[in-house]
Amino acid sequence: MAHPPLHLGVPEQRLAEPPAATRATLTGLSDILHRADLLNDLAEVERQMLLRTASRSPLLAAAGAYTVASGGKRLRAALVLLAARLGMYDLGRALHPAVAIELLHAASLVHDDLVDHAGQRRGNVTVHARWDADVALLLGDYFFALAASELAGEPDPRIISFYTYAAQTMVEGELNPVTHIEPLATAVAQYYRKIGCKTAVLFEAACKAGIAVAGGDQAQIEALGRFGYDLGLAFQVVDDVLDYTGDEMLLGKPAGNDLREGTLTLPLMYAAAQSRHPLLRAIAGGQRPEPARVAQIVAAVIAGGGAARAMEEARALIERANLQLAAFPVLPARRALAEIGEFVLNRRV
Ligand code: IPE
Ligand code: IPE
Ligand code: MG
Ligand code: MG
Repeated sequence: MAHPPLHLGVPEQRLAEPPAATRATLTGLSDILHRADLLNDLAEVERQMLLRTASRSPLLAAAGAYTVASGGKRLRAALVLLAARLGMYDLGRALHPAVAIELLHAASLVHDDLVDHAGQRRGNVTVHARWDADVALLLGDYFFALAASELAGEPDPRIISFYTYAAQTMVEGELNPVTHIEPLATAVAQYYRKIGCKTAVLFEAACKAGIAVAGGDQAQIEALGRFGYDLGLAFQVVDDVLDYTGDEMLLGKPAGNDLREGTLTLPLMYAAAQSRHPLLRAIAGGQRPEPARVAQIVAAVIAGGGAARAMEEARALIERANLQLAAFPVLPARRALAEIGEFVLNRRV
């Protein structure tokens, strides 16, 4: 039976242009990628993603094109390609894991926005808000399947296992709540377990897949995996700080949403441990933050030094990640990976 035609869905609503300040901050990342001569290869990743999201379902095609066209930093694809540049680089081989990782990431964001009740992503209305929860659920599933099919032709079975491990672990991480902010040591351990699962494993998979398709040996795969994991931890710590200190216009997603959703993160834990502020004491006592108090709690977390202490930890994680790069020759790709660590610490998007 002939299949109905594929739709390269074009959303009828024009996507918002990123604000000028976002473009300026993103330039920091594009400068790094430009110096590593990676921009043309990333443009190919982008082209392939748009082609892959074609669907026989007009609705999936439209929501898929909307999601891909809304952009994002494409940081995980860049990690795949840069990791591959540390070995015998072949774009034809590295392209598939780079496309797959961004599709997997996009799937996780569409589902994450649904569970986090977030109204904005990448400066645009989220999929569940623009369409509905069913479309978000099914688009996420569709993207997960597209990511798997992207890897179907990959001859090295380790690559698909890096991805399936990451996908399974991310789901476990998303469902694994941090329940307390006291005692501090227990809370911090719970927090790192969660972000290790929901965020760092994907960065780890990106780096491992990149060096593996470029012929890296087992020791190199493990070293870059550790680099990616620590970079991913730092990335999520900074994301959680930006939820307190960030500018919604730049972020393209709501700030303060973690508190509104009752999500307990590192800045809150450290502020509660260091401050006697009654609102922080109430949260430490198990109270869910009241929506009307979010702005006051945000201010108390910043004044209590929680964001600053979390940032110190992110810096230490980046320093630990960079130790892994010493095993690789000083190539432009290695320099770019180290610069990405700095970007993560200074990012506002
Ligand atoms: C957002 O990741 C999800 C987190 C792990 C915090 P990014 O900030 O990399 O999202 P995009 O792809 O650039 O939009
Ligand atoms: C990370 O957590 C989401 C995923 C790893 C899928 P967040 O909920 O903090 O991410 P944002 O802030 O919505 O991008
Ligand atoms: Mg979220
Ligand atoms: Mg966040």
